[in-house]
Amino acid sequence: MLAEQDQFEAERSARMVKAVYVYEAPLRLWHWVNALAITVLAITGYFIGLPLPSVPGEASNSFLMGYIRFAHFAAAYIFAIGFIGRIYWAFVGNHHARQIFILPVWNMKWWSEVFYELRWYLFLVKEPKKYVGHNPLAQLMMFLFFTVGAVYMICTGFALYGEGLGEGSWASQMFGWVMTAVGGNSMQVHSWHRLGMWVTVSFAVVHIYAAIREDIMSRQSLISTMISGWRMFKD
Ligand code: HEM
Ligand code: HEM
Repeated sequence: MLAEQDQFEAERSARMVKAVYVYEAPLRLWHWVNALAITVLAITGYFIGLPLPSVPGEASNSFLMGYIRFAHFAAAYIFAIGFIGRIYWAFVGNHHARQIFILPVWNMKWWSEVFYELRWYLFLVKEPKKYVGHNPLAQLMMFLFFTVGAVYMICTGFALYGEGLGEGSWASQMFGWVMTAVGGNSMQVHSWHRLGMWVTVSFAVVHIYAAIREDIMSRQSLISTMISGWRMFKD
């Protein structure tokens, strides 16, 4: 992966390549569907844990919380099936499609670039480095807070869902171990799942800030790259 990256870098610095095709269409489509699903999950999840004051009138005439839960579960299926599709794409897509799943942890140059990027984000260095795929710090953060985070939200979410579907349901059989792991206390799983929401929301805030900041400051395209697939480099 790094050898290919170095080759791109060499070509780019020789000013032979000013645009490189990075993110293929399925990955880009997944990114935006996934971002939308997470937005719905975070908003509906927030209200599941902290419901609105009761709706006036006869209880059987209103189904507000039911709709909120329905939207949460529909978005949860989109999120989980999308994630499985994203794993599939890591196998069949280009090498950038594997970046959020595999970290080159034994590569010291990669680690030194993680710290370079950290200093760049903290405004401590003036020269932006350019990358064809994700920069090493982004890659590390996406792995920790998105890839690991998604597995965590799917496990805790489907454990709660399995409780709703009932004992013996597919979800309780596959994810019931999460309940057992916290001593069978469903409230604890709710709290851990809710904490996961805040971690995910924090990641999204920093991620969107970083994408906009890099678009402006790093002399390479970012947001349009996630739309068209092409990374453009300015000298
Ligand atoms: C990034 C993804 C997700 C976010 C941000 C999220 C957020 C939340 C939040 C904040 C709650 C309320 C917890 C509480 O305070 O009690 C919740 C509840 C719940 N979530 Fe998620 N969730 C996500 C993914 C999932 C997934 C993949 C499933 C799988 C079906 C799921 C199923 C549930 C269930 C069953 C509940 C409890 C509903 C109830 O008790 O009425 N969530 N979610
Ligand atoms: C307005 C909202 C968003 C914008 C503008 C945005 C922008 C971007 C951009 C520009 C990239 C590519 C970065 C690069 O080339 O290194 C990217 C990648 C990524 N974003 Fe977002 N993003 C948004 C929302 C989200 C949300 C809500 C999540 C999930 C919490 C998310 C998760 C990811 C992940 C996991 C990747 C890596 C893609 C991959 O390699 O498969 N994004 N995003």
